[in-house]
Amino acid sequence: MKNFFHNEIDPQKVLIPQNRLQERVSELGHEISQAFDGKDIVLVAMLKGSFIFAADLLRAMKISCTIDFMGISSYAGQRRSGIVRITKDLDDSVAGRNVLLVEDIIDTGLTASYLLRTLKQRGPASVDICTLLDKSARRIIDLPIAYRGFEIPDVFVVGYGMDYQQKYRNLPHIAILRPSRSSEDQLESGDG
Ligand code: IMP
Ligand code: MG
Repeated sequence: MKNFFHNEIDPQKVLIPQNRLQERVSELGHEISQAFDGKDIVLVAMLKGSFIFAADLLRAMKISCTIDFMGISSYAGQRRSGIVRITKDLDDSVAGRNVLLVEDIIDTGLTASYLLRTLKQRGPASVDICTLLDKSARRIIDLPIAYRGFEIPDVFVVGYGMDYQQKYRNLPHIAILRPSRSSEDQLESGDG
């Protein structure tokens, strides 16, 4: 079989192996379940990047919960504005519910901050952020992160749902595509 990952990615550059991901996601599931025991919680998974993390986190939850999905896309050339377009909205109202915003990675923080504001306008009981990865070195807006899987350095990562030009989401681990994000990525229109 032709090597699907051809020359663009070195599969040796594993940042987080599959077993560490599973362990950590399971810990997060326990922690969140304890915090929300007896409460009504909805996981709001951001498409597309967080769909695999959200699926694993949902299975690690020990309490009754629901899941809903929101799709977003940055406007072309507007990544740094933090204004995103909602391409798929939630199916159900979050009014009065405890919302857990499930993100793949928080980089500058602009996207999550916009989503936090948007969700808070819908009258939820609470909104907390849960991100698998935190690239805090690049943060430009302060954000309260209640649950974080891993702190990572300023590298561009793919796998476990995360992409580069829509590819590599199927890697079971998190790999480093290259040392840092290029300016061309920052200008690219993306859908997380
Ligand atoms: P932020 O608004 O800068 O925090 O961007 C967050 C979004 O950018 C994430 O939800 C991802 O979709 C994308 N992103 C940021 N860093 C990476 C990365 O290293 N790999 C893949 N996607 C990334
Ligand atoms: Mg995303």
